[in-house]
Amino acid sequence: MALSRAVPRACRAFSTSAAAPAADTLKERLTTGLGEMREAGTYKKERVIVTPQATSVRVEGRDEPVDVFCANNYLGLSNHPELVKAAGSAMESHGFGFSSVRFICGTTDEHKRLERAIAEFHGTEDAILYPSCFDANAGLFEAILTPEDSIISDELNHASIIDGVRLCKANRYRYKHMDMGDLERCLVESADSPVRLIATDGAFSMDGDVAPLDEIHALAQKHDAKLFIDECHATGFFGPTGRGTDEFFGLHGKVDIINSTLGKALGGATGGYTAASQEVVDTLRQKARPYLFSNTVAPAVVGASLRVLEMLNEDSSFVERLRDSTHYFRDRLTEAGFTVSGNRDHPICPVMLGDARLATEFADHLLERGIYAIGFSFPVVPKGKARIRTQISAAHTREQLDRAIDAFIAVGRDLKVVA
Ligand SMILES: Cc1ncc(COP(=O)(O)O)c(C=O)c1O
Repeated sequence: MALSRAVPRACRAFSTSAAAPAADTLKERLTTGLGEMREAGTYKKERVIVTPQATSVRVEGRDEPVDVFCANNYLGLSNHPELVKAAGSAMESHGFGFSSVRFICGTTDEHKRLERAIAEFHGTEDAILYPSCFDANAGLFEAILTPEDSIISDELNHASIIDGVRLCKANRYRYKHMDMGDLERCLVESADSPVRLIATDGAFSMDGDVAPLDEIHALAQKHDAKLFIDECHATGFFGPTGRGTDEFFGLHGKVDIINSTLGKALGGATGGYTAASQEVVDTLRQKARPYLFSNTVAPAVVGASLRVLEMLNEDSSFVERLRDSTHYFRDRLTEAGFTVSGNRDHPICPVMLGDARLATEFADHLLERGIYAIGFSFPVVPKGKARIRTQISAAHTREQLDRAIDAFIAVGRDLKVVA
């Protein structure tokens, strides 16, 4: 029998024959793609930080510390001593890891306490923890909606909402960003669905604009639809006492389903959740796949998050401080000739530049002046709408804000963005 016939198909790739190696299509394709990204200025480089996250950090390769204007550290809690202590105590009492999903042996008394505290914070009946808000968004829609239902989503919703919607068999409607006429069109067109769920970010992370929740809520009431909001860029700091976008619009406790994160203002570690009615939360515990099939949130994170919520309940003066700093920063840059998009009250302050290369170059020049901010370009934002997305923290001092404003103006003049 000829040898070639005796070699199973799957083994031939390992043959030592002298034939030229087959082209590695995947390697070639990826190399070309990466080259194109570099060429277009959209390739994302990661800077390495060698200190804890804070408004001032040290970056590898630089002797001088830099001021951070691109973290979700809205309340300055990422390295707060109270939270480090609470995380340590939780590790003392409950150990490092829990090595289980929740329903097998990953639920502790502290997980239950945190879920209760989150529900109270948002004014809902219950809450359920996930490893991240990405998971909370991925798990929600599929678990509670049927193929007859409809989900009506803002076109600029976060990627994790988009992915969650893709995983769900309900009918999909997409309305133009914050366009209430278009939202109502979708509500009318989906009138036959037994359940319609409107889904929107409370605050949109790339643009710093805030969904008109008062109008959306009124339309939901009028058309008997349910309302879901993603509060990742609002929880802890937006609205009079930091409850979020619902509180900002006087609707605290009136939104059906809230997803949010522990990974931004609330200490910035990791973890997400859904806060909603008892039936929604109970159903998610039974059916949400990222909850059922992923590890429980670590005890240290649970302990520190409980402490954050206590701190927020005790004192909400930081909310005002953050709003004042946000107004100061936005107004000074606008006066200097920059276009700062978004809601004046929101600490996400995108400085619009347009060109992707310009945004990257601008960020590099800022770093040289001790300001750490990042250029965002396609595909994270639409083509031609590149920007430096700055984020203000309640922990930024007035001196840090002034240093950043001065740096923006100097670089803006060098690169002919402002006169
Ligand atoms: C609007 C929004 N939703 C969800 C997420 C995901 O949150 P997490 O980091 O907890 O997965 C993010 C994070 O970038 C976000 O900005």
